[in-house]
Amino acid sequence: MTDMEGFSKICKVSDLKESQGEKFIIGDQEIALFKVKGKFYALSNVCPHQHMSIIYDGLLDAGYVFCPAHGWQFNLETGKQPDGRSGLTTYEVKTFENEIWIKVVKKELKW
Ligand code: FES
Repeated sequence: MTDMEGFSKICKVSDLKESQGEKFIIGDQEIALFKVKGKFYALSNVCPHQHMSIIYDGLLDAGYVFCPAHGWQFNLETGKQPDGRSGLTTYEVKTFENEIWIKVVKKELKW
């Protein structure tokens, strides 16, 4: 068995459609999950622009997801915007026996 410490099972591989996002909630975090050409990408579902929970519904193009509200773009691998500004948190994804697992680290409280 692969090392799954810190990972949470989120869904089955067969639950995802190509280039169509799904949203999940793990603990206090909302996650947008995408499947593109056999690879899986997990990012925060909350757009940093106006804090809308809609990234899962974004269009995908050339390795980016476009927020459906105002079109901000985020790299699927890094979560960053095209100009390098920070964007969305990304999460490590593993697959094991037709299941998708995601590593979600609890947010730290900042005082
Ligand atoms: S809320 Fe995402 S671009 Fe405006």
